[in-house]
Amino acid sequence: MAQTLTLADRTHTTTLTREALLARPDVREITLDRDPVYGRAMTYRALPATALLKDLTVGADDYMQAKATDDFSVSIPAHLLGEAYIAIEPAATPWPKMPGVDKGTAGPFYLIWRAANPAAISSEYWSYHLAALTVTDSPTKRWPQLGVAAGAPDQVRHGLERFVSVCLACHRFDGAGEGTMGPDLGRPMNPAAWFQPAALKKFIRNPKSVRDWPDAKMPALSPESLTDSDIDAIVAWLEYKLLKH
Ligand code: HEC
Repeated sequence: MAQTLTLADRTHTTTLTREALLARPDVREITLDRDPVYGRAMTYRALPATALLKDLTVGADDYMQAKATDDFSVSIPAHLLGEAYIAIEPAATPWPKMPGVDKGTAGPFYLIWRAANPAAISSEYWSYHLAALTVTDSPTKRWPQLGVAAGAPDQVRHGLERFVSVCLACHRFDGAGEGTMGPDLGRPMNPAAWFQPAALKKFIRNPKSVRDWPDAKMPALSPESLTDSDIDAIVAWLEYKLLKH
């Protein structure tokens, strides 16, 4: 597992070791009452994300791609990072193993949040096994095929935003995205074309409640990471894309 953190904007790349990061004078202790990955209170040695990213060139509409050691990645609106910290796992005192998943600890780096409005921080933004943070264009700028027209209903817009934060890590849409784990949900056929809406919503909440087989890999999504109205909105966006593109 990589023990370095790579930071990159469009022109520069820096790689930092955890020893160098832990030695910085601005490392502080951050206690979270409830860490959503561990499901309990946790204390970390951490650096404010903005202190680490201050030498990068980041535009107001840019995103930050948080890539994990297993290449799983999530795109986070860069303007949110003012409320994020990068927790660093000390080699001598490792964190506990994450509960429920056989993936070891959340280290060596883990993006944690102390947000005034925790609902704005999607659970995927708690990026564990962090390996790199890279400045990118927003997903709709990179992949215009995801976008919706200016007059699209708010629900469709919200569905797009939730699709990008929750689903795009695994699924592409009409070729948009970098996920490789699940099928493209735009082509050859959008699931809104063949899944009854109620069954599609049930599937998105918990795939195994619709069909089950030993190698099925799509996880059930908890109401904390995806509310019922988020699911309705994602399905509204899929239906919109089916009709409009
Ligand atoms: C961690 C990866 C992962 C995430 C996150 C994920 N999926 Fe999936 N999804 C999969 C995989 C893998 C499959 C293929 C079936 C399987 O192995 O479970 C799948 C299958 C599907 C299917 C069925 C497609 C088909 O043709 O059978 C739909 C619909 C779907 N996902 C929608 C979503 C939506 C919407 C989201 C976001 C709310 C989402 N998925 C998030 C991995 C993921």
